[in-house]
Amino acid sequence: MHQKTEMGEDSIRKRKESKNGSTGLSVDSQAEDKQPVKATVLQKDVGLLSGICLIVGTMIGSGIFISPKAVLLYSGAVGPCLLIWAACGVLATLGALCYAELGTMITKSGGEYSYLMEAFGSLLAYLYSWTTVMVLKPSAFAIITLSFAEYASTPFYPGCTPPLIVTKCLSAAAIFLIVTVNCLSVKLASYMQNLFTAAKLFIILVIVVAGILMLAQGKSKSFSNAFEGSSSSVGTIGLAFYNGLWAYDGWNQLNFITEELKDPYRNLPLSILIGIPLVSVCYVLVNIAYFTVMSTTELLLSPAVAVTFGDIVLYPLSWVVPLFVVMSTFGSANGSCFTAGRLAYVSGREGHMVKILSYISLRRYTPSPALIFNGILAIFYIIPADINTLINYFSFAQWAFYGLTALALIVMRFTRKELHRPVKVPIVIPGLMVLVSCYLVMAPIIDKPDLEYLYCTIFIFSGLLLYYPFIHLKVNWARKLMRPITMHLQLLMEVVPPEKSE
Ligand code: ARG
Repeated sequence: MHQKTEMGEDSIRKRKESKNGSTGLSVDSQAEDKQPVKATVLQKDVGLLSGICLIVGTMIGSGIFISPKAVLLYSGAVGPCLLIWAACGVLATLGALCYAELGTMITKSGGEYSYLMEAFGSLLAYLYSWTTVMVLKPSAFAIITLSFAEYASTPFYPGCTPPLIVTKCLSAAAIFLIVTVNCLSVKLASYMQNLFTAAKLFIILVIVVAGILMLAQGKSKSFSNAFEGSSSSVGTIGLAFYNGLWAYDGWNQLNFITEELKDPYRNLPLSILIGIPLVSVCYVLVNIAYFTVMSTTELLLSPAVAVTFGDIVLYPLSWVVPLFVVMSTFGSANGSCFTAGRLAYVSGREGHMVKILSYISLRRYTPSPALIFNGILAIFYIIPADINTLINYFSFAQWAFYGLTALALIVMRFTRKELHRPVKVPIVIPGLMVLVSCYLVMAPIIDKPDLEYLYCTIFIFSGLLLYYPFIHLKVNWARKLMRPITMHLQLLMEVVPPEKSE
């Protein structure tokens, strides 16, 4: 069936050979032929260290260097602010524990998508992939590269904010570079991830140590009367959580690439258990360091908390902070891109997205069509983007799906009793996740019913308009139309459908 509509591996190989002309094969391809032939599926290249780095490296992006201001603003005082940062860490850990159970029970890539599919069937999984592939993943990619561009360009415009056009072009350039690296090689992308993760842990260590030294010198003014002026509105606390949770977002990243993990039963839970508590501790300590050095007013006035921190504490080495923030955001964008490609790949494979997205590069074993598609969408999102509103709407939809995934875990405890569960969490944990996500989705809407939430919901359900004709009924003309397009794209990118694994 496949072979009729789409061009198989053979024809591309033939085409490659005929390109080499009558002189026969080039040295290059002879060498290529001597290598053991790998099946054209994504390879199991990701080990424990890379797994931890993927989690830690995506979670630590720009959030911890920017969000503390918003968390403080919405929570009203230092005490609740620190509590919210700690609570976000606990939440991320509990969420990830649920994902450890899900990921070792259903070892397919694609994260939430595969779990929603198992528990609730095709329609909900489709709505998830529709929203995530079209909006959540590319907009997250856009947000992170925008903060990268802001930090990277600021030193060149001392005393003023860099022109918008510069930051946008720079962020587009970063997207281009990251997508290219990810299309070229999985190994290269994970090396890059590991390198930048080390860089961000280093700068966090510098901030924490500097903070502790100052605290030891008795600078603890911010911590007296820590609860004065605390906010008590349910909605604003919800917004404070959104901003904190944005900095923690990425705790589910490894579940998107389960199929590429070496020994997933060991490495998935272990990476989660090491990575997320590590990040949580770092975040709380970094916030304590900020408050040690700055008063709340100073913090609220600072455009970028970490940079102000560097200016006060590290002078004349203050340039170190923006430099490392640049690396940190770049690494986080790289991790996001890596996993986003895998989701489009899995949902293309299941027929929920156009087939070409599930194809992989014949020579490089990367899902290049999916990666490029995500990059193109991200470039669209940087055009109008205002970072803060994007974060608020991002979290709203994202948490609706986290809640549904936790619910999926509970449901499968009853409907799929037969599945082997190497990791089994107490059922109160997913229960708590469901409750918390209900709160996080509802609170800001009740507090301030913005039209944007409605648009967001309408967008999610508009996916149904495509579902019935193209996925449920599989109308014939659509396939006829797609066939030549798919074929041309295949030739252009040298990609083939993944081989079916038994
Ligand atoms: N936590 C990251 C930051 O602070 C953002 C993670 C984006 N989320 C994602 N799934 N890629 O910048």
